[in-house]
Amino acid sequence: MSGPVSAVRARAAAKINLHLGVGATRDDGYHELCTVYQAISLFDQVAATPSDGWRVDTRAEPYVDRAAVPGVGDNIVTRAGALLAELHDVEPRAELLVEKAIPVAGGLAGGSADAAATLVVLDELWDLQTPRAELLELAVQLGSDVPFALLGGTCHGSGRGEVVEPVHDPGEWWWVVVPHRDGLSTPEVYRHFDDMVPDAAAPASSDGLVRALATGDPRELAACLHNDLQRPAFDLRPALRALIALGESEGALRGLVSGSGPTCVFLCEDESHADTVAEGLRYTGHVTALTATGPAPGPAVDTD
Ligand code: C5P
Repeated sequence: MSGPVSAVRARAAAKINLHLGVGATRDDGYHELCTVYQAISLFDQVAATPSDGWRVDTRAEPYVDRAAVPGVGDNIVTRAGALLAELHDVEPRAELLVEKAIPVAGGLAGGSADAAATLVVLDELWDLQTPRAELLELAVQLGSDVPFALLGGTCHGSGRGEVVEPVHDPGEWWWVVVPHRDGLSTPEVYRHFDDMVPDAAAPASSDGLVRALATGDPRELAACLHNDLQRPAFDLRPALRALIALGESEGALRGLVSGSGPTCVFLCEDESHADTVAEGLRYTGHVTALTATGPAPGPAVDTD
């Protein structure tokens, strides 16, 4: 017989958008999207232990701006805990430790990943056995890309990004990830998109990208990467344009702003090519350059 649970943990994977087609603003203020998400092996870790109250502590890698993490009252993990507790009519009692390796406001959906991991660790800690479909409904309430964060892997996203469907992705893709300590505000980047593209129509189709994924060939994928938020992100943070050019001159197959930025990702041939490109970027740009592979799984609980 197992003893009482002392800690429940889960890894929370960063996401990148391999294709991000942005359409017009809807009546609810969100933009219609056609996107393909991929979870990559850059992980936050969320751990929950039993407690009489509610507490959230955060630790962060040096390249992550810990001061930019919202306080406990405004933190998305608190909202996740409150929604799950409310669904089951239980008190939200736990002590959470969020260890951040995903930059804050970086275009990698780190907060969304933490929220999804929080749902699964608290479901286990509180022994609720919430059906997957109900967790997905909570995820939709938490943010547009939280449903994807719950699934992981590679998914097509539509609506405001919350309608997710796994896509066939047999490849092992290698990325160099260049984070920045200073984040970009997602609403600001979308507003700038509206200024630059006032007559946006239907979001660009991801069909070509989905076909390229199925080949497993990084050169095919490189040719199809697409992000409609890249131009507004370049406009708000001009240094990103030079960074993309630098990564490509170091041999990356293609550089791309991740989501609303400012994180940039560089697709490489394989692991050793990613190591070489990362080393080159560190040498020439004095930047933090990490390597990661995708697709990575969604959060799964680990108990001790
Ligand atoms: O859904 P979430 O809270 O993560 O979205 C954050 C912000 O990003 C929204 O308030 C909105 O400004 C912008 N957004 C958007 N269209 C989407 C998704 C997000 O305009 N489809």
